[in-house]
Amino acid sequence: MTTSNYFNIVLLGAPGSGKGTQANLLKQKYNLQHVSTGDLYRNEIASGSPIGLKAKQLIEQGLLCPDEMTLDLLYQFCISCEKTKGFLLDGVPRTIEQAKMMEGIEYPHTIPVSMAVYIEVDEKIIVERLSKRAIELKRTDDTPEVIRQRIMNYEAQTKPLIAHYQNQNKLLQVNGIQSVEKVFLDICNLVDEF
Ligand code: AP5
Ligand code: MG
Repeated sequence: MTTSNYFNIVLLGAPGSGKGTQANLLKQKYNLQHVSTGDLYRNEIASGSPIGLKAKQLIEQGLLCPDEMTLDLLYQFCISCEKTKGFLLDGVPRTIEQAKMMEGIEYPHTIPVSMAVYIEVDEKIIVERLSKRAIELKRTDDTPEVIRQRIMNYEAQTKPLIAHYQNQNKLLQVNGIQSVEKVFLDICNLVDEF
């Protein structure tokens, strides 16, 4: 089984930018498998696995999980999906290191990126959306201090990926401060043009 010939779209954006929301719409339109590393970790936590125990401590503090653990979890999920032509990668890569590993640099598997969709929102909107979601979904990392930490990680560790994919001519950028439907429409137009 190889993952090197997949058509994969990365959804890049701050916490609460709408990666999961848009992935749910895009997966039907483009017939791709949605994979959120946050969801994979939450499943591990729910099952009480050793990975879940380690991830729980980090996620509840708003810290990123180790790159290799994340990539291994992602790779195992990808190879378990035999019938898909590709993935909507939601929340991964999250560091330059992870992006390089997916390119096969110092990692035994390649998970190629066809394009990266950057959903741009500002911090005020992020805090509003996640505070609202905290009431609806009760995610343990949607508390005010953890949201702050997640935004800091995003700024320091994930934002450099914008330039990384820009340099590879793979970056598409949309304004995430619009209705869900309008953001979806903008992404579809950009993907179709690309
Ligand atoms: P993860 O689950 O990926 O969380 P996140 O990146 O912080 O993003 P969210 O899921 O909070 O937001 P989203 O962009 O999906 O927005 P959503 O669509 O839900 O990761 C959680 C943790 O796991 C990380 O902190 C880390 O510890 C670990 N982890 C995961 N991946 C990792 C990796 N690769 N490496 C290391 N560690 C990793 O929308 C948010 C809310 O806004 C919703 O209520 C939604 O209804 C609403 N909304 C969405 N769009 C709009 C809109 N256009 N208008 C109004 N409301 C909207
Ligand atoms: Mg999400």
